[in-house]
Amino acid sequence: MTKDSYFIATGETDKLRLSILNKIYNPVALQFLKKVGLNTGMKVLEFGCGTGVMACELAKAVGPTGRVIAIDNSEAQLDIAKFHAKALGLSNVEFVCCDVENIDTINEEFDFCYGRWILEFTKNTSEILKKIYASLKAKGIFTCEICDVSEAGHFSSPHSPVVDQWHALMVRNFQSLGLDVNLGNKLFHMLKALNFQKMTIEAHQPIALTPEEKSVYRLALLSVKASTIQRKVISEKEIDDMIQGCLALEQSDTITGFIRNLLIAAQKKGE
Ligand SMILES: C[S@@+](CC[C@H](N)C(=O)[O-])C[C@H]1O[C@@H](n2cnc3c(N)ncnc32)[C@H](O)[C@@H]1O
Repeated sequence: MTKDSYFIATGETDKLRLSILNKIYNPVALQFLKKVGLNTGMKVLEFGCGTGVMACELAKAVGPTGRVIAIDNSEAQLDIAKFHAKALGLSNVEFVCCDVENIDTINEEFDFCYGRWILEFTKNTSEILKKIYASLKAKGIFTCEICDVSEAGHFSSPHSPVVDQWHALMVRNFQSLGLDVNLGNKLFHMLKALNFQKMTIEAHQPIALTPEEKSVYRLALLSVKASTIQRKVISEKEIDDMIQGCLALEQSDTITGFIRNLLIAAQKKGE
């Protein structure tokens, strides 16, 4: 089951981490989505919307004549997302509890679809992409963001061993669940096999400079701690030591090259 492959906490436990990540990654993401065709009046499907920060941005981008349906399989995430949309006074975004494996049950056609940091947690990715392809109108646009969890490209300056340990732990987490850490690099070929065309792929690697930006390492450890210990990927003592190391990193002058992110867009064939 895909649901079991999501090893990060949801709801209030992970809210702060996701909010900082959204702050770091959203400006580049929105620029990319607009460049590849996100526009007013569109009907948009977001898969794996989490706490709904991007869903609200999408709702603003499509405006009152457009509509966003955002799905996630965690009610705890969706409660936060609904609260957020209400606080912003957005009435053109709807949150639906649905596993991405069952995305076909949404049973509507979309101009644009978007999902960030969810495909890397799926095993039946080709099947899911096939369902997303079917949910798009002719010439509809597929977009996603996927983090390169293969340890490629990360760095710290001056060198901080805890940053290497952190990336290695994330890789072990993915691998222990049978997930493909190189999925991002394979998506081009998967989308091509589905007849998607006009593909665009960009890479974005944020550099963490501030204590808040660097706190994402520690917050991620806190959010994966329970499941990681339970699956015996790491001991409690080892992860607690890493958490202390990350706290020291936040308070230091070290800068880090955070997880490299791939931004991918492709278009469904026209009639
Ligand atoms: C890393 S979070 C990213 C959230 C959001 N896209 C963002 O960028 O802030 C991944 C989200 O995918 C959801 N998720 C994981 N597996 C899922 C599945 N099989 N079906 C639907 N949602 C899933 C999780 O509940 C979580 O909210």
